[in-house]
Amino acid sequence: MATSALWFLWLWFILVGDVTEVEDSRRTHGDLYPLQITSIKQPYRTLYHFQPPRNWMNDPNAPMYYKGYYHLFYQYNPYGAVWRPDIIWAHSVSTDLVNWVHLDHAIYPTETFDINGCWSGSATILPGNKPVILYTGGDSKNHQVQNLALPVNLSDPLLQSWVKLPQNPLITPINGGIDPENFRDPTTAWQGPDGEWRVLVGTQGEHGGMAILYRSRDFVNWTESQYPFRSREKTSIWECPDFYPVSLNTTNGVDTSVNNPSVKHVLKVNFNSHDYYTLGSYSSYTDEYIPDTDFMDSDLRYDYGKFYASKSFFDPAKNRRILWAWVNESDSESEDIKRGWSGLQSIPRSAWLGKTGRQLVQWPVEEIEKLRINEVNFKGENLRSETVFEVSGVTASQADIEVSFELPKLAYAELMDPSWVDPQLLCSDKGASVKGGVGPFGLLVLASEDLKEHTAIFFRVFKNKDRYVVLMCSDQSRSSLSEEIDKTTYGAFVDVDPRHENISLRSLIDHSIVESFGGEGRACITARVYPKLAIDEEARLYAFNNGTENVIISRLRAWSMKSALIY
Ligand SMILES: *[C@@H]1O[C@H](CO)[C@@H](O)[C@H](O)[C@H]1NC(C)=O
Ligand SMILES: *[C@@H]1O[C@H](CO)[C@@H](O)[C@H](O)[C@H]1NC(C)=O
Ligand SMILES: *[C@@H]1O[C@H](CO)[C@@H](O)[C@H](O)[C@H]1NC(C)=O
Ligand SMILES: *[C@@H]1O[C@H](CO)[C@@H](O)[C@H](O)[C@H]1NC(C)=O
Ligand SMILES: *[C@@H]1O[C@H](CO)[C@@H](O)[C@H](O)[C@H]1NC(C)=O
Ligand SMILES: *[C@@H]1O[C@H](CO)[C@@H](O)[C@H](O)[C@H]1NC(C)=O
Repeated sequence: MATSALWFLWLWFILVGDVTEVEDSRRTHGDLYPLQITSIKQPYRTLYHFQPPRNWMNDPNAPMYYKGYYHLFYQYNPYGAVWRPDIIWAHSVSTDLVNWVHLDHAIYPTETFDINGCWSGSATILPGNKPVILYTGGDSKNHQVQNLALPVNLSDPLLQSWVKLPQNPLITPINGGIDPENFRDPTTAWQGPDGEWRVLVGTQGEHGGMAILYRSRDFVNWTESQYPFRSREKTSIWECPDFYPVSLNTTNGVDTSVNNPSVKHVLKVNFNSHDYYTLGSYSSYTDEYIPDTDFMDSDLRYDYGKFYASKSFFDPAKNRRILWAWVNESDSESEDIKRGWSGLQSIPRSAWLGKTGRQLVQWPVEEIEKLRINEVNFKGENLRSETVFEVSGVTASQADIEVSFELPKLAYAELMDPSWVDPQLLCSDKGASVKGGVGPFGLLVLASEDLKEHTAIFFRVFKNKDRYVVLMCSDQSRSSLSEEIDKTTYGAFVDVDPRHENISLRSLIDHSIVESFGGEGRACITARVYPKLAIDEEARLYAFNNGTENVIISRLRAWSMKSALIY
């Protein structure tokens, strides 16, 4: 049967497979030995976020842990700083998710089933610790099909060489309802109690975005299940679906195949330039997923700023679920071309179910903390109404800040208008310079000394009948003197009750990116900024309060961040 056929092929590739030919074709492929950009001054290049040495990157692919190494594959254009359809899989490895080594490209167009591009996909670790990759190929007719790639040498912890199964494509858009040009991004597969594997593929049907479920006993022969995952409301195509369990009882992650009464499931999909998710229950018997609330009703997102095409994986080394995403540029394509690169990877985040059970909580992986140096900290600093307070002593262009605000008086909180349902709109209407009652208060990062340039990450507290609503904003409107930049303000409501807890904010600043975590990771906002004045040593960091009520910085800790080693 097909099972033995797969394992026969597997053995064939390991023992007799023409490994040298695989390596030869790679040698002719693009920038095999990419160069570090050193010649031009690069104020916007990040120094502790993952970036390829040059050129365009987008989605992270197939993140996994294998034999002591974290693997990151990613969508990469070896020919320049813009996207193109014949994209390939670049590959990097790390032992700590902070420092990375770039390896040779892993998967790139060679066959009729992927000649027009090797698009996103995911890794699944098969029993016996055998990783495989399912990815989307653009075939010779420009149809999107799902293909399987296997590592050539399982003894190589770096998994440097991959071969494509000759039976590819394994999943094709045969069903008449599927748009063959919008059928992509297979998830990590999970195994049901019946031993069969399941995988989701993103697409678009008559009723809008959906993910089709396929089942297979042997990972080669896949059959479509009758019941796709879809939302009640019509959305555009679902890209990059991700589907995994989260523990109800602990903050630990669980393997993707786990399903029992101690877990809930997360379905994440991409549309409208965001990563939306729902929480729900999934039956391994009927393959039905019932979300607690619909995408559009709950507006749950991993990140309310720039954060797209995320992928998660279970890290067995530290029993956690890690997710991360592509963060694109906000300046013009011509600037990207001039600079020679575009796109970067967010800091990997641990993700778990929050205490309320209604949302996920995300926090930068602990490993990033080993880059912290020169701590500055204080407690109980009064941040009076209409003041700005400089936090000196850290390299403000490359820093990690954790701050917590105590609100002694909530009486003058502005009244919440019931029509204010869109936090992003509310943040743009009430930016950092619009005075309030309780707030705006927060941080001014990547600020110039004269404050002409700054990115404001702040909170505003509203009163809504007998409860309080906390709004978190990332206001880029004054982030740069240069004009040709998308300076959209981002916003989110944070599920914090200021009567019972202080409001915390953590921001990771790295030259042109600001990743902010509000309410201990209950709301995340990532922004890209391109200051003209506040670069390198010229950048400053401030706390500010433009509300009428005083707030107290109950605790602030800030660090300069060392650069990661990414070669
Ligand atoms: C497989 O990888 C191991 C570990 O890197 C290496 O020692 C071995 O030579 C490799 N085998 C082949 C056939 O390349
Ligand atoms: C593939 O799986 C389906 C469903 O289990 C089965 O009916 C079919 O015969 C299989 N095809 C091959 C080629 O094994
Ligand atoms: C986890 O919590 C759920 C729901 O509260 C409960 O049914 C389950 O038994 C718990 N599991 C463990 C291992 O404590
Ligand atoms: C990338 O950034 C631009 C401009 O900031 C934005 O309009 C676009 O939607 C982004 N693309 C994705 C896929 O997030
Ligand atoms: C705070 O308000 C003052 C007066 O309106 C304004 O000049 C200043 O720019 C505001 N601060 C911020 C960070 O927007
Ligand atoms: C806020 O922090 C201060 C200082 O750590 C603490 O004394 C206070 O109880 C906290 N307030 C709330 C509401 O948790």
